[in-house]
Amino acid sequence: MNDDSGQSGRSRELTLEAPAKVNLGLEVVRRRADGYHDLNTIFATVDLCDRVRLRIGGSGIRCSVSGNRQLAGEPVEQNLCVLGARRLLEECERSEGVEIVLEKRIPIGAGLGGGSSDAAAVLRGLVDLLSLPITDDHLHALALSLGSDVPFFLRGGVAHAEGRGERLVPLDVELPWSILLVNPGLHVGTVEAYRLVGRQGEKEGRDLVGGVMDALEHPDLLGGALPNDFEGPVFAAWPEIGRLHGRVAETDGLLHVGMSGSGSTIFGIYRSREEARRASRLFGEFFTHVGRLGRPLGMAAD
Ligand code: C5P
Repeated sequence: MNDDSGQSGRSRELTLEAPAKVNLGLEVVRRRADGYHDLNTIFATVDLCDRVRLRIGGSGIRCSVSGNRQLAGEPVEQNLCVLGARRLLEECERSEGVEIVLEKRIPIGAGLGGGSSDAAAVLRGLVDLLSLPITDDHLHALALSLGSDVPFFLRGGVAHAEGRGERLVPLDVELPWSILLVNPGLHVGTVEAYRLVGRQGEKEGRDLVGGVMDALEHPDLLGGALPNDFEGPVFAAWPEIGRLHGRVAETDGLLHVGMSGSGSTIFGIYRSREEARRASRLFGEFFTHVGRLGRPLGMAAD
């Protein structure tokens, strides 16, 4: 964390880490009248982080992006961070200028929640920097107005989620496993993925939390406890993602293989970091990350 407000009294800045997430199981329970779907999922942060630097000063809301050519080329007005900063300041009737510097490391369109996490980091950071008198409920509603995954990233860690993903119950568990992320660089559109699932009627959600709790005692139970309803239809439409899932499934020491969100990232969970590292060497042609699951949010040390 870098906050020099005490020294100058004028320029105030803060650097935050915005972690990725995976879904430990993801069921599309029903299609709602408003077009969204009710979900049953467990979110867990992963220690692959974008870096979000905020500086108060100047006029208007500015944003620069490095680390991802596609995002850097898009108009900043479309960036969820800019939208979030603008809405937050409007709702709190504030008019400060804000500079947002975004260093991307999380692949985009990958089911890892990078854009949602960046936006939540901007909200958390501005509330802190400007001591905004906003209630948790109000901030949660504002986060949801930006996207279904954004509320989770206000707290991070591990949480069971229902509704659009905003009805969150934090899980006070330490997940002792290592995770390998493998992203094949394919972009799966979220709206298209929900269409492919084609949920008709309603399905009974499984006890995902019970599955994880049982696996803490007996890790071999993790495989099979965490289904993702997007996997079948997405693998049918993008066979490369299905093949990648198959390759990760064959790695030594694997406890569970899954897809995060609606894809395209495939992840493996292993007992040890060494097993996850060894598996990662088999996927040199893709973006990979080996890390821990479920770390609570913190601010970056500079
Ligand atoms: O909320 P978010 O902007 O991330 O959602 C993008 C799209 O994904 C929505 O417009 C909707 O089509 C779909 N979606 C859904 N049910 C959810 C989350 C997203 O149908 N729970």
